Amino acid sequence: MAGKSGNKKIGVFDSGFGGLDILKGITKENPYYEYIYLGDTARSPYGTRTQETIYTFTTQAIDFFFENDCALVILACNTASAEALKKIQEEYLPQKYPGKKVLGVLIPAIEEAIEKSKNKRIGIVATKSTVESGAFTREINKRDKSIKVFEQACPLLVPIVEAGEQNHPATKLIIEGYLKNLKKKEIDTLILGCTHYGLLENKIKKELGKGIRIISEARIVPKKLKEYLQNHPEIEKTLSKKKKAEFYSTDLSESFCRLGSIFFGEKIKAKKITLE
Ligand code: DGL
Repeated sequence: MAGKSGNKKIGVFDSGFGGLDILKGITKENPYYEYIYLGDTARSPYGTRTQETIYTFTTQAIDFFFENDCALVILACNTASAEALKKIQEEYLPQKYPGKKVLGVLIPAIEEAIEKSKNKRIGIVATKSTVESGAFTREINKRDKSIKVFEQACPLLVPIVEAGEQNHPATKLIIEGYLKNLKKKEIDTLILGCTHYGLLENKIKKELGKGIRIISEARIVPKKLKEYLQNHPEIEKTLSKKKKAEFYSTDLSESFCRLGSIFFGEKIKAKKITLE
């Protein structure tokens, strides 16, 4: 299986359609390549699931990408990056797909936050699973022990965005409630550690007030991918330059194409697949 498949494409994975916001930036910054996007909409959200389940689901998605000519997969989902990436890189790839690469979205955001924070106090907003994994704090402190990290789970924000209720009056109150503690921590930098929060960025920014820099993966990851491909010509030269994107989803609901088109910024047509 692994041996037969080619190395032409770049895979982008998310639990649902939120990763399309990151793919939008990726295709803008790196337009010439051939992309496959997969959203595991039948089983999303991942953010309330256990590490074991998230790992199993993510490895099934990895199989799909590597059976379909991908050289490299980006886990655009923070929850999958936090809960499954390390084990995939250390165990799953060496055993099953030596030579293939899987990258996540946490490290690019973390590197940017460390570079930008002046007072070494960084806040994170993310799903419950991501916060419980402790991955953001661990990876930040691995790079700089003196940084204080404050993580806040915001479990209601994904359903709000999925319901298209960003402008509902309750959304402001919910954001206010989630950020109340973080505001007391004197952070100067906040990472939006969830694919969906980009759509709430202005509201979050307004609630935090001036002087707090927001780190968005949708802005950082595309640049980091460009650098990665420049630094890995052995991967870059195998990639097709057909300038194309295909979309797959495990549940073809009307909302995947509708909300997906909002996240991606243009109309998308997805095909349904089953992961097992
Ligand atoms: N994609 C997820 C993330 O970035 C959010 C949605 C979910 O919980 O599945 O953490």
